[in-house]
Amino acid sequence: MIVTTKIQDMQTMMQQYRLEGKTIGFVPTMGYLHEGHIALLKKAREENDIVALSVFVNPLQFGPNEDFARYPRDIERDERIAKENGVDVFFCPSVEEMYPHPLSVQVTVKERVDVLCGKSRPGHFDGVATVLTKLFHIVMPTRAYFGMKDAQQVAVVDGLIRDFHFPIELVAVPTVREEDGLAKSSRNVYLSPEERKEAPALYQALQQAKTAIENGERNPETICALVKNYIQTHTHAEIDYVEVYSYPDLKPLEKLHGKVIIAVAVRFASARLIDNITLDIV
Ligand code: PAJ
Repeated sequence: MIVTTKIQDMQTMMQQYRLEGKTIGFVPTMGYLHEGHIALLKKAREENDIVALSVFVNPLQFGPNEDFARYPRDIERDERIAKENGVDVFFCPSVEEMYPHPLSVQVTVKERVDVLCGKSRPGHFDGVATVLTKLFHIVMPTRAYFGMKDAQQVAVVDGLIRDFHFPIELVAVPTVREEDGLAKSSRNVYLSPEERKEAPALYQALQQAKTAIENGERNPETICALVKNYIQTHTHAEIDYVEVYSYPDLKPLEKLHGKVIIAVAVRFASARLIDNITLDIV
C-alpha cells in the first residue's frame, strides 16, 4: 500500500494508473474507520483494479459549534485497517495541504439541502461538495463509493457528479449496523453507556414505520408521529428531525408512493446521531 499526504504525488500516481487503463475505485472518508467504511472498501475492491482511500477530516463541512476539533482520529489504526482491506493508495493530506490559503472558489449546493441535515447544518453540504470536487480532481476515480447511512449526502453527490460532468460512477452501499441495529458511525464513541443502550431505538423506530407502511399506512405525518413517539418513549435524546420525503429528490409527499426515505436525527448529550431507511412503495 502506498501512503501519501501530497496532492501532487497523488495526481501523478493516479494519472499513471489511468494511462495504464486501470479502473480506480475511490472511498472518501474522514477516518476512524469502522465496518461501514470497510463495506465501501470491499465493494470498491471487488469492482476495480485500484482502490484509493482518502482520510481527511474536512474543516469546511463542520459548523462553528460542531465537533471538528474533537472528531475522533487515529491515522495509524486507519492505515492498518486500509492495508488489511486491500487498499492500494492511502491519501491522508493535512488541512494545510488541502486548504493552503482561503478558497477563492467554493461549491454551493442549491437543491436537496433545505431539508434534513442540510437544514440543521447550514453550509455542511457546501463543505462536502467542495472537498469532493477537490478530491475527485486529485484521485480521478472511475467509481466513487458512498454509504446510504448518509443518504442525503448520496443525493447531493449524485447532483454534483451530474451537474459538473465528473466522469465518475456513483455507487451507493447499504448501511452497516451493529447487531442491535445501531448504524455504525465514528461518532458512536461519544455515547455514554446509557446512551449506547438507548441508541438502537432510532432503527427500531424506523422499523416500526416500515411495518406500518407494509400494513397500508400512506400518510407521511402519521409515519413521522409514530417514529417521534417511539424515540421519545425509548430514549432521553432530543429529536432534531424526523422527516419523510421522496428519494433521491427529497421532495415532500402528500401520500407515500414510489421510493421514499424516512430519516431521523437526534441529539444525545454529547453526540448527534442520524439514521434512515429507504423503501419502495408500490
Ligand atoms: P465519513 O463520515 O467518514 O464517511 C465516509 C463514508 O462512509 C460515507 O460515504 C458514509 O456514508 C460511509 N459510512 C459511514 N458509516 C456507514 C455505515 N454504517 N454503513 C455504510 N456506510 C457508512 O461522509 C463523510 O465521511 C464525509 O462527508 C466525506 C464524504 C468523506 C467528505 O468529507
